[in-house]
Amino acid sequence: MDKFSGLKVLYHPDHVKATLERRSMYPVHVNIDTINYCNHRCIWCSAYEEQQENHKEIDYASLVSALKEGAERGLKAVTHIGYGEPTLYSRFLELVKEIHSNGIEQGIFTNGAFPERYCEPMVKAFTWVRFSLDAASTPVHNIVHGKTNTFDSIIRNMKTLLSLRKGPESFTVGVQYALHQKNREDMVAAARLVKDLGADYFSVKPVIMRGAVGVRCDKFEMDPDRVLKDLETLSAMADDSFEVLYKPYQFQVNNTPFAHMENERFHRNYTRCYALNFEWWIRHNLDVDICGPMKKKIGNLKEQSYASILNSDLYRQVVENIDIDRCYRGCRPHYLNEAMHRLECPEFKIHRNFVG
Ligand SMILES: C[S@@+](CC[C@H](N)C(=O)[O-])C[C@H]1O[C@@H](n2cnc3c(N)ncnc32)[C@H](O)[C@@H]1O
Ligand code: SF4
Repeated sequence: MDKFSGLKVLYHPDHVKATLERRSMYPVHVNIDTINYCNHRCIWCSAYEEQQENHKEIDYASLVSALKEGAERGLKAVTHIGYGEPTLYSRFLELVKEIHSNGIEQGIFTNGAFPERYCEPMVKAFTWVRFSLDAASTPVHNIVHGKTNTFDSIIRNMKTLLSLRKGPESFTVGVQYALHQKNREDMVAAARLVKDLGADYFSVKPVIMRGAVGVRCDKFEMDPDRVLKDLETLSAMADDSFEVLYKPYQFQVNNTPFAHMENERFHRNYTRCYALNFEWWIRHNLDVDICGPMKKKIGNLKEQSYASILNSDLYRQVVENIDIDRCYRGCRPHYLNEAMHRLECPEFKIHRNFVG
């Protein structure tokens, strides 16, 4: 099993059972989006539109209170992600400590350009930190992340985190590489660099054109054979202590290298979204969504308690109106949905109770 496996649902049997019985559940995992600003300017940033607005921060007390309520209702993990750089949130370290004290696991997507003094509290409270590195050198990093000249300090932070941890059983450091023609030349070197530093994994995701991404970023145009060759080279670097990860279906979304094959190869077997019983998103304006990219709002924590959202009319309407054929095709919980669909299999012919 790897980090992207949909079979992870089996660690949450109550949720699986309820979902198969079509009962609504509070999620196991919540993504939080604490701010809408960033110190980098990635050419492909899917949050570009939100970052054009005035700087906004989440209301700390409301967020903490919702997460505490969540923990009482089965919340196990929080990912810091969202429309900006999570480490810039003015109460970031305080929030991390508070979430940790409530027994909730944490992960973070970060550009890595945070103060080095953050490393120690992060190692104490996080299960994983994923650096959106996207380059192997300052010149390429400056091209794709905006001219920040932060590449060396990001690598220093990665080294510090790796030196502070007890080992990959207690805390992992990984890298995500958003692949585009502007940084392709650096990809294999970036994987070598972080593997040599002792990172645990390297994950590749093609730059996906959605929202306002096309305003500043050229359409993804790369020779599919070269992409496949690079992915093979990366995969050959994997060993017991270094994973190479990517989701082939994300390479079949429009404007990514396999777009020409998409109708042949991308197929959703499921007809409903099971993921909404496992994962929610809390936005910096305290909106609660059941889908990240599609922003399907089910409530707002300024007006409602966390608990009341699940029983609201809006929740029911949103869930009933999901048209899976119109969903974002790079969807992160695609493998979860495929796994749940297989478990739901209504066919008599599998003889579901004859296990072994
Ligand atoms: C929106 S960022 C927010 C967190 C943090 N600032 C970071 O960069 O890790 C979350 C992740 O989405 C990725 N991302 C942003 N826009 C993307 C796009 N258009 N296609 C693919 N990945 C994208 C980033 O590279 C990053 O790994
Ligand atoms: S670092 Fe993250 S939030 Fe900032 S511009 Fe890049 S992708 Fe967007």
